[in-house]
Amino acid sequence: MVSYKDIGLVNTRELFKKAVNGRYAIPAYNFNNMEQMQAIIQACVETKSPVILQVSSGARKYANQTILRYMAEGAVQYAKELGYPIPIVLHLDHGDTFELCKSCVETGFSSIMIDGSHHSYEENIKLTKQVVDYCHQYDITVEGELGILAGVEDDVKAEQHSYTRPEEVEDFVKRTGVDSLAIAIGTSHGAYKFKPGQKVEIRLDILAEIEKRIPGFPIVLHGSSSVPQSLVQEINMYGGKMQDAVGIPEEQLRKAAESAVCKINIDSDGRLAMTAAIRKVFAEKPDEFDPRKYLGPARDSLKELYKHKIIHVLGSDNKA
Ligand code: G3H
Ligand code: 13P
Ligand code: ZN
Repeated sequence: MVSYKDIGLVNTRELFKKAVNGRYAIPAYNFNNMEQMQAIIQACVETKSPVILQVSSGARKYANQTILRYMAEGAVQYAKELGYPIPIVLHLDHGDTFELCKSCVETGFSSIMIDGSHHSYEENIKLTKQVVDYCHQYDITVEGELGILAGVEDDVKAEQHSYTRPEEVEDFVKRTGVDSLAIAIGTSHGAYKFKPGQKVEIRLDILAEIEKRIPGFPIVLHGSSSVPQSLVQEINMYGGKMQDAVGIPEEQLRKAAESAVCKINIDSDGRLAMTAAIRKVFAEKPDEFDPRKYLGPARDSLKELYKHKIIHVLGSDNKA
């Protein structure tokens, strides 16, 4: 059993308390490889932001769970080496079984999401409580989810979203003992969140209603990529084919970050930034075959995107 405390990671408890009181949100960036991890840490050190490094079960399958755990330990040392030891959380994104959550606890994670949102309400409570009871023994914080986001996570695809029902949140939080709650208010996973011509708006009214029921309780937003059109255009200009990709407007996320929303999940925008940069190199220098020559620019572009989010969307700069 590896304890997250021994490798210099922190859980989310203090970070969320400060974020709710300070009216900002902490970035939760997904990583699957070294360049993404480096870009995240560079961006957060340069802006002095705390960070949540997120690992999905797909990332564990792709990169190997042991390698990812050592990369998180490396991230702690890397931040120190860059000159500013920011608080770093290692978080399981969309855990779907008790066994997966337990395995992450044993390999050094400091925060766990158990996503029981696809189960019935009572089943969700039962599974979430089981994970909370286990994790709390080790001072690991737990995120639960109520409501269903549209989009794809690993092998789970939901065509339709269903908003979180504000009348359920108090009961869910009380009976499960979760430390934070992910809600569905119109955000969704992936790069195609809205159809062309559709009104692009998240339900801040539902968020306000939820906050009234559980004042000051840490809220999490998934599916919060903004799908910058400049990146989509760059991808298409250099041979890509991403038609009608639309995300959440940054101003709406900024408003959410000023509420009890204290963790905002961003993955797809990073994928777009890397893809655009790599396609550009491939198009402009077709004779290039050193991976450092295209992964390097991809990492730089990713870092700029992450810094932009921290300063202009989440407001977590200088909070580390
Ligand atoms: O919620 C989904 C995240 O973007 C992770 O995606 O399951 O493809 O690793 P993934
Ligand atoms: P995006 O697909 O909008 O980046 O959402 C990522 C996410 O919610 C990870 O859990
Ligand atoms: Zn998610």
